[in-house]
Amino acid sequence: MNRLVIEGLEAGYGAVSVLRGISIEVRQGELVALLGTNGNGKSTLLNAILGFVRPTAGRVVLEWDGQTIDLTGAPPHRIVDAGIALVPEGRRLAPNLTVEENLLLAGSGRRARRDARRNLGFCFETFPILKERRAQRAATMSGGQQQMLAIARALMTSPRIVLIDEPSLGLAPIAVTQVIATIRSLQATQNLTIVIAEQSVVQAIDISARAYVLAHGSILRTFARGDSAADLDDIRRAMLGVGESRRPTEAAQ
Ligand SMILES: Nc1ncnc2c1ncn2[C@@H]1O[C@H](COP(=O)(O)OP(=O)(O)O)[C@@H](O)[C@H]1O
Ligand SMILES: [Mg+2]
Repeated sequence: MNRLVIEGLEAGYGAVSVLRGISIEVRQGELVALLGTNGNGKSTLLNAILGFVRPTAGRVVLEWDGQTIDLTGAPPHRIVDAGIALVPEGRRLAPNLTVEENLLLAGSGRRARRDARRNLGFCFETFPILKERRAQRAATMSGGQQQMLAIARALMTSPRIVLIDEPSLGLAPIAVTQVIATIRSLQATQNLTIVIAEQSVVQAIDISARAYVLAHGSILRTFARGDSAADLDDIRRAMLGVGESRRPTEAAQ
């Protein structure tokens, strides 16, 4: 089975530890959500998977096509070459480059450069607005369009797994709906494997097979699609770190 496995991952910044033994699994074709309010470690986890933040314990392992690739502590370019792409929080586009230049730059790495033309075609097909505005500077696009560009940029690396950090951040509600629908459609039509980190519960839970609630750098709860309707409230309570003790049936488990 093709999957990304994170086991007992710990990471932080200097003396400050943030992630405290995170274990999650993402299987090929799944869309998984990481939920948590601000400052609970979502970005740190995604950045630790990409190698931007160095793990101090635990493992990041990609099992794919019969290979087991230990990515723990590897440099980011090797992790991208293994097929993991990050759409960072705040998009981080090259503001003065055009849409097309942003995409071609992302597609110039070892893994995907031979497929750059094909990937560019796929991005333009998936996001017609980017094709229309291919010669426009990234900075002059709307927030929603920039988010689409940031996702397309990740697709230029021929990823197996795409990690998307707070795609809805700072967007108008209509743009949030479009971006979330696009993510869902990429997963459904391309069988793409996606992890999204979100604070916005409803959007994320609606499209994901499984949601992990991250609090203070630990996975507090896991929810699966198909859990009962009361779960949305449960998720919110878990995210706010309250309500656990009010559920005796669970406490007894
Ligand atoms: N570059 C950094 N240096 C030091 N501390 C950081 C840095 N980035 C994040 N943190 C701290 O790590 C914790 C988790 O932050 P973060 O991973 O950004 O959470 P989230 O993405 O869930 O909002 C917070 O306490 C934050 O202040
Ligand atoms: Mg964050």
